[in-house]
Amino acid sequence: MSLPKFKNFNLDVYRPGKSKLGNIKNIIKLSANESALGTSPKVKKILNSKNLKIFKYPDPLSNSLKKEISKKFRCDETKLICGSGSDEVIQMICQLFLNSKDEVIIPRYSFLMYRIYSAIVGAKVVLAEEKNFKVDVNNILKKVSKNTKIVFIANPNNPTGTYLNYKELIQLRKKLRQNILLVIDDAYFEYMKNNDYKSGLDIFRSKENVFVLRTFSKIYGLASLRIGWGYGSKKIISALNRIRPPFNVNAIAQTAAVEALKDTKFIVKSVRHNLREANKLKSFLSTLNISTNPISANFLLLNFDECKLAARSVYKKLQSKGVILRNVEVGYKIKNKLRLTIGSTKENAAFMKAMKSLFN
Ligand SMILES: Cc1ncc(COP(=O)(O)O)c(C=O)c1O
Repeated sequence: MSLPKFKNFNLDVYRPGKSKLGNIKNIIKLSANESALGTSPKVKKILNSKNLKIFKYPDPLSNSLKKEISKKFRCDETKLICGSGSDEVIQMICQLFLNSKDEVIIPRYSFLMYRIYSAIVGAKVVLAEEKNFKVDVNNILKKVSKNTKIVFIANPNNPTGTYLNYKELIQLRKKLRQNILLVIDDAYFEYMKNNDYKSGLDIFRSKENVFVLRTFSKIYGLASLRIGWGYGSKKIISALNRIRPPFNVNAIAQTAAVEALKDTKFIVKSVRHNLREANKLKSFLSTLNISTNPISANFLLLNFDECKLAARSVYKKLQSKGVILRNVEVGYKIKNKLRLTIGSTKENAAFMKAMKSLFN
């Protein structure tokens, strides 16, 4: 039987963080930057108690959720769009703006989905070099051509954990041509307590040519429900709504996200946990001559250049002990480094115990 020909895609397929290890039970998964404390108990309670009518289609516009987001983040409800993960919002942005001759600038070690969705719609992906695994504004500006349409920045970036401070972000917007859309992905902003950091939403909420991405997959602990949102000019939102799948966010996700936003205590607890555990892990790692990025989001990028073992070997040996980190050689092409998600206290202790046994 013959099939019509597929389109030709010039892309490396996204490979998510591993979550299974053959027959090993009780694995410690520190490979996907999920919430260390799980989901807010208030969210769990509401999902159990609500008589969710899953036989009905969900609200196509996620209106209750958009109301709650606009209340919490003091932003205009009419400039919001929700997606099945921020992933889907990235995809829709690419579908909306990019033709085959258009160019997209992405920092070399940036989150992979920007280049994947850009390539799927046929745009040319232009990578801007970083400096010490940090986005470099000048290198981005050097890559601008008459065909540039979008610049994507994850801030902080996954997997490097580095970020542009608010002055650098403002500089970037100022120096970029006005008709280039700057997309700032705030996926990890809740964790960021660094003094020189501001979220994309806080800096650019009234800028027409900036689009901001947020997710419920990280600190809110709803990764499996697939829900995120975007914030941009009314013109962009209205155009996105024309191409958005009609019922793109399911009702359970919408209900859970509304409740997750209200549970401020859980967020505060998660941020404190993250800082405390990140500091603990960072000082432990330094005793093994493994350095990391300065603490920022809920993960660390571990550098094995000064360490007696190579990243690849540690990655494999940890797996034999049931501990999974993210191998950033795959996809990101970053050598001799591993990404470690800050887990629960128990998970982090298990990771450190496994590491000690590898190094003894
Ligand atoms: C920077 C960044 N943006 C977006 C996402 C995707 O989030 P979502 O689960 O909302 O699709 C991730 C997930 O790891 C991420 O690291």
